[in-house]
Amino acid sequence: MKKTTQQHQPQHHRRNPNRISNNSVLRILQGLIFCRRRNLGSHLLPFFSALVGCFLFLFAFVSFLSPPINHHHVHHFHYNHSLLDDEIDFQSHIGNTSTFLVPRAGGSLGDEIWTLSQSKFHHGCSQKSETFQDGDAKTNPERFLLIVTSGGLNQQRTGITDAVVAAYMLNSTLVIPELDNRSYWKDQSNFSDIFDVDWFITYLSKDVNVVKQLPTIDGKSLHPYRTRIPRRCDAECYESRVVPLLEKKKVVKLTKFDYRLANKLDTDLQKLRCRANYHALRYTNPIREMGKKLVERMRMKSNRYIALHLRFESDMLAFSGCYFGGGNKERRELEQIRKRWETLHKQSPDRERRQGKCPLTPEEVGLMLRALGYGEDVHIYVASGEVYGGEDTLWPLKQLFPNFHSKESIATKEELAPFAQYSSRMAALDFIVCNESDVFVTNNNGNMAKMLAGRRRYFGYKPTIRPNAKKLYRLFLDRGNMTWEEFASGVRTHQIGFMGRPNESKPGKDEFHENPIAWVVVRILHVHTPGPWDDSSVQNSWDTSWDTDSIFVCFCGLLACSLAAFSWIWGCAWPSPFFSNAKSFALEFSTSIHQVYRFLAFPLRAA
Ligand SMILES: *[C@@H]1O[C@H](CO)[C@@H](O)[C@H](O)[C@H]1NC(C)=O
Ligand SMILES: *[C@@H]1O[C@H](CO)[C@@H](O)[C@H](O)[C@H]1NC(C)=O
Ligand SMILES: *[C@@H]1O[C@H](CO)[C@@H](O)[C@H](O)[C@H]1NC(C)=O
Ligand SMILES: *[C@@H]1O[C@H](CO)[C@@H](O)[C@H](O)[C@H]1NC(C)=O
Ligand SMILES: *[C@@H]1O[C@H](CO)[C@@H](O)[C@H](O)[C@H]1NC(C)=O
Ligand SMILES: *[C@@H]1O[C@H](CO)[C@@H](O)[C@H](O)[C@H]1NC(C)=O
Ligand SMILES: *[C@@H]1O[C@H](CO)[C@@H](O)[C@H](O)[C@H]1NC(C)=O
Ligand SMILES: *[C@@H]1O[C@H](CO)[C@@H](O)[C@H](O)[C@H]1NC(C)=O
Repeated sequence: MKKTTQQHQPQHHRRNPNRISNNSVLRILQGLIFCRRRNLGSHLLPFFSALVGCFLFLFAFVSFLSPPINHHHVHHFHYNHSLLDDEIDFQSHIGNTSTFLVPRAGGSLGDEIWTLSQSKFHHGCSQKSETFQDGDAKTNPERFLLIVTSGGLNQQRTGITDAVVAAYMLNSTLVIPELDNRSYWKDQSNFSDIFDVDWFITYLSKDVNVVKQLPTIDGKSLHPYRTRIPRRCDAECYESRVVPLLEKKKVVKLTKFDYRLANKLDTDLQKLRCRANYHALRYTNPIREMGKKLVERMRMKSNRYIALHLRFESDMLAFSGCYFGGGNKERRELEQIRKRWETLHKQSPDRERRQGKCPLTPEEVGLMLRALGYGEDVHIYVASGEVYGGEDTLWPLKQLFPNFHSKESIATKEELAPFAQYSSRMAALDFIVCNESDVFVTNNNGNMAKMLAGRRRYFGYKPTIRPNAKKLYRLFLDRGNMTWEEFASGVRTHQIGFMGRPNESKPGKDEFHENPIAWVVVRILHVHTPGPWDDSSVQNSWDTSWDTDSIFVCFCGLLACSLAAFSWIWGCAWPSPFFSNAKSFALEFSTSIHQVYRFLAFPLRAA
């Protein structure tokens, strides 16, 4: 029993001195085995072997749990490469790039692509502070503010939200906003057709006095003074431009009211903005019920789904001034539409693309999603108007994601009939399905993308992918030139910072509605289960996520230290010929273990 230690490594060591001196794992083993007090060493050895055994078991377990290596991640493509079952010979609608082989599966990122690790702690921004004065205490009963919104549903939403804050600042009563019925969308719906008007009034009753109509005074109807104020008007701007008018005329109507309030405001006013947008403004019952039905149908098809907001209508493409690869036919058609805007000057399509101003094509969105790890089994809900080029344009996306759905495909004509004639109501349905989706993706940076990005942050940081078009365009351009892995890894690199993570907020940079939390200064309060109504759960969003690597290195370091302590206590010889001190021992030990770990756990981290 006393001699057990001598039977192992030493002989082996003599046979192979060079190899061992190169291998720190063996050096460690060897060092530990040369114990001076062999009687005690005989206790140490079984303990140590057990420990090593545990480790091996752990490694085996980790590599067993991790998904198998996907071969398309490993091999390189050649032009005469024969097609495997797990790949698609991807056909671009533009025609040529015929040799791009795209894997069918998304890869091995697992749950990471569906939830954000830091999303547990989210900010709230709607709880008013104690010093915030109630609106009814300060409203001047003679003053009324009216607004007319502008643009599509989501652009109008910014106007309505900001009007609430403007009315509060101006000590005036807000009249239910008039919606834009002339814009491109030509929807005749009024406020109460789309939003729950009574809920809106009641919810805000403490903050702002809201009435449905301008009252008559002594049987005479009031005539509002119409004016327009600059964009992003701040408190001083309202003070100097609107207050004098209110004093003189009492009733003021602000037209084309969208983005007319500054991003930067007092914290309490920002919080009122959050209350208005995320709580007071809710859709009417019929819209909410239909939206819920659509969400339920998506969930029946698959537990999780992606919602894609695809803006690819001809007017939008024409306005962007970009070229989408459709040849002369496309150039002619879009040029024709561009004549609608007289003031639009000629843009260089290439420059627009370089500056990231072009919406992604359906094909590019599909490739981006696959590169980010979504496989062909994923169900996609596509919210879009009439896509330019129709089925031909959509085909590459459908090729990559055959489980392709839309309102029209998951609901019957009869069900949609009450909404179909009204673009805003249809947009509201899409808004609900996109808001509830596990992952939200856009191909553009329009109002709906901004509104939903802000909302998804507010309601707990759900993944919201917005293409970094400025960087991605090069990859799309050069993709005939690279392997799938190169392409995919490029996409993943460029998308860092564009995935809707809490640590992506850059205070003072984005639009308020796009990222409310970046604009509201919140102090850290106590932490408990967060809920949207409960802002005492507010927490700062510093990055608390640990990647597995660092935890592992830490763990190994600890282990190495305890081993060193053990060998010291038991009087074993320090493996001094190789390691001058405990620190270098710990370092070598943990790095070599880490290397083994990385090797074994590679598929887990294939990225
Ligand atoms: C197919 O690829 C191999 C290399 O992978 C190359 O040697 C061979 O010439 C190619 N054949 C054709 C027909 O291109
Ligand atoms: C198609 O691609 C090949 C090389 O991949 C190129 O030689 C050819 O000119 C391209 N054809 C068109 C019409 O762009
Ligand atoms: C609104 O009312 C508050 C409190 O009564 C007052 O301090 C403030 O000057 C008023 N602002 C305007 C624009 O009338
Ligand atoms: C838009 O609404 C306003 C007020 O609600 C109304 O007076 C006007 O006639 C409407 N415009 C169109 C084009 O229907
Ligand atoms: C809004 O429009 C509906 C019809 O679409 C109408 O019944 C209702 O009276 C209108 N409400 C207001 C406040 O104008
Ligand atoms: C958006 O989603 C959040 C969280 O899932 C939910 O609390 C909120 O009510 C939704 N809003 C709408 C308009 O559906
Ligand atoms: C192919 O890649 C090289 C460098 O990787 C680049 O310089 C070249 O422009 C690319 N060619 C095309 C057609 O994308
Ligand atoms: C945010 O955190 C993620 C993962 O924790 C990290 O990969 C990413 O680089 C961070 N992004 C920024 C902009 O710091």
